[in-house]
Amino acid sequence: MASLTPEGSPTNLAHPMTTPTSPAALSPAATEGDARGGARVSVRGLVKAFEHGGRLIEVLRGLDFDLAPGEIASVVGASGVGKSTLLQVLGTLDAPTSGSITFDGVDVTAMGATRLAEFRNREIGFVFQFHHLLPEFTALENAMMPGLILRMPRRLCAERAAAMLARIGLGDRLSHRPGELSGGEQQRVALARALILRPRLLLADEPTGNLDTKTGRQMHDLFFELNRELGTTILIVTHNDELATKTPRRLRMADGLIVERE
Ligand SMILES: Nc1ncnc2c1ncn2[C@@H]1O[C@H](COP(=O)(O)OP(=O)(O)O)[C@@H](O)[C@H]1O
Ligand SMILES: [Mg+2]
Repeated sequence: MASLTPEGSPTNLAHPMTTPTSPAALSPAATEGDARGGARVSVRGLVKAFEHGGRLIEVLRGLDFDLAPGEIASVVGASGVGKSTLLQVLGTLDAPTSGSITFDGVDVTAMGATRLAEFRNREIGFVFQFHHLLPEFTALENAMMPGLILRMPRRLCAERAAAMLARIGLGDRLSHRPGELSGGEQQRVALARALILRPRLLLADEPTGNLDTKTGRQMHDLFFELNRELGTTILIVTHNDELATKTPRRLRMADGLIVERE
């Protein structure tokens, strides 16, 4: 689970529901109030090479682009072109071979591991094609998890998670485990989990890849609504043309570069 990487397996945590919080006791609108807006992201000369079988594969070959605060953009391109690699590197889950990534002017490629882990947890949310929810935990507990890992007060985590889940239409599914949710609902829980700490950058890698057309469309709408409401900068890798044409900006990747900016 990428967003939960810093402190080892989240299943080592005490069970989050030892002090249950009833939805009725929640403070109003935990999705509002202290939204932090979006990050400005600048990528310069970004190179990522993998060594494989004694051969160096240069996947990213010197990318340059900027994301403005609060911008929502898509990344498109053929399978294997390096879209997931770009997201992993942008999300600081993997270090670039060379080049720089600045986040509101701060060079994240220069950060040490401990600071980087905390930075990532606080500032960047991830949604993947597979939801990576923890099966033994409820929707509410899964969405709370990034806050619990940062040792935020359990009640605050529960309030925020419940409000976010309610915001995305899962207010009546808080106590369901992933196996008791539909694919679209599971993916929405993953989105709530990604947003619980109000990240300033949300990275999504084929977030609707496993959903049917209608459910995928609802998920797209949510991205746009949350972008407007929270001001989060959002970058979505997608094969879905409909989603890609909806984003005001598309970054098309080919041959390890961004070849087209629409
Ligand atoms: N850890 C790795 N080691 C070696 N090659 C890798 C690694 N990760 C990705 N690649 C290669 O990088 C290329 C881009 O992969 P990826 O970013 O997953 O593409 P996309 O998401 O656009 O389909 C592929 O050719 C893949 O085989
Ligand atoms: Mg991919």
